[in-house]
Amino acid sequence: MPKTPFAALILAAGKGTRMKSTRHKVLHCVGGKPMIGYLLDTLKTLAPARTLMVVGAEKEQLLAAYPDMDFVTQSRQLGTGHAAKVALDQLPEFKGNLMVLFGDTPFIPASVMQTMLEAMQNANTGITVLGFRPKEPGKYGRLIKGADGSLARITEYKDATDAERTVDLCNSGMMVLDATKARRWLASLKNTNAAGEYYLTDLVALARADGLKVAVVEANEDDVMGINSRTDLAHAEAVLQKKWRAAALDAGVSMTDPSTVYFHHDTKLAADVMLEPGVFFGPGVTIEAGVTIKAYSHIEGAVIRCGASVGPFARLRPGADIGPQAKIGNFVEIKKTDVAAGAKVSHLSYIGDASVGAGANIGAGTITCNYDGFLKYKTEIGPGAFIGSNSALVAPVTIGDGAIVGAGSVITSDIKADALGVARGKQREITGYAKKFRTQKAAEKAAQKTTKTQK
Ligand code: UD1
Ligand code: CA
Repeated sequence: MPKTPFAALILAAGKGTRMKSTRHKVLHCVGGKPMIGYLLDTLKTLAPARTLMVVGAEKEQLLAAYPDMDFVTQSRQLGTGHAAKVALDQLPEFKGNLMVLFGDTPFIPASVMQTMLEAMQNANTGITVLGFRPKEPGKYGRLIKGADGSLARITEYKDATDAERTVDLCNSGMMVLDATKARRWLASLKNTNAAGEYYLTDLVALARADGLKVAVVEANEDDVMGINSRTDLAHAEAVLQKKWRAAALDAGVSMTDPSTVYFHHDTKLAADVMLEPGVFFGPGVTIEAGVTIKAYSHIEGAVIRCGASVGPFARLRPGADIGPQAKIGNFVEIKKTDVAAGAKVSHLSYIGDASVGAGANIGAGTITCNYDGFLKYKTEIGPGAFIGSNSALVAPVTIGDGAIVGAGSVITSDIKADALGVARGKQREITGYAKKFRTQKAAEKAAQKTTKTQK
């Protein structure tokens, strides 16, 4: 049987007041990606014929984030049934199935969507509802079965009887509908209910009245998790992090305490990576095999190549490329810098807008002075160079291959290959000065004490 085309209608016109935010609810991030991004990415894998997003008056933010999206404005939020109607009015000729999704319920797996679409292939099915059995059914709509054991209708919590409220099979809100029939059903919806809204859920009873079947697909609670508040957002973050940690462990990543490691949705980790406690990944990180990231390191926009070691307490910022077997130690910040194979930046350094050659050794406290308050400049350190501790390399500057910088130098000009560059005050030694100083100061202090007691 040829696959029936489907159009996705994403309802997202709700005010999202419980978020208490100036940002549109569906643009709040989980694992660093706007929640709506998860839904759109999943949908893409199923290739819908059309995707329409129903938004309220405040659609500018969404338009800015998703300029290619088809938006439909629902100026007054009169209910989920009304929202679906407003969207369907934009598809007057469409004949396939409609998958109604919620912008704030973004984690439905493609497999669940697929199962819902497949259930519609049964000729006599007009609607497929996505149900679930939450630990706390609370105020979700309830799926009410008829005498024949099939779904008869959905009752909103507000409208339900005490007996109906004991039903544990709840409505996720999402469903797949036959578009042609839905057009007719949506046009006949009434808002005579406790909320005074046009309920999408009332379509179930209308389909039954037409002699059609309503299929129910059951999802896991986490798959249909809705995000309405900051608490829900934090919960969603926790669920995704847990999933990503499990996936990393399965893929051969070791973690001393997985619960303390935080991934970004796009973090890429090879096998045999070791992550100590408290490692945090921001966007755009790739970690190759055999890398160890020691405790409490913050990594974003970085590549860490085979066998390198980073941390503890290291910060890698965008553009950090740490070469194979290189070592980045404690309290080191690296930004927009290639650190070549086997190079070491072991302690207390800021290295930005630089390149560090293979096997170079950057001493404790070295700083690349890359910014003059207006522009950024590059520091190039050749392979095998040795930078003495507490040096300031004032960019733009080049340290030649195998060159040495004397500790405590402020380097403002290039140093040739294999040369020594030193730029600091010349040391003097005054014989016996320290002893003389101590004798004199001790006498001064004693004299001061005597004057005080006489007063
Ligand atoms: C809905 C279901 C309920 C289900 C619950 C699951 C209905 C009538 N009820 O209730 O059975 O248990 O979801 O979370 O469908 N929206 C619009 N325009 C509107 C109204 C809503 O776009 O006029 C959007 C919202 O932005 C949201 C989604 O539709 O993304 C759901 O709306 P919401 O008001 O949260 O529905 P519930 O009352 O929670
Ligand atoms: Ca809701």
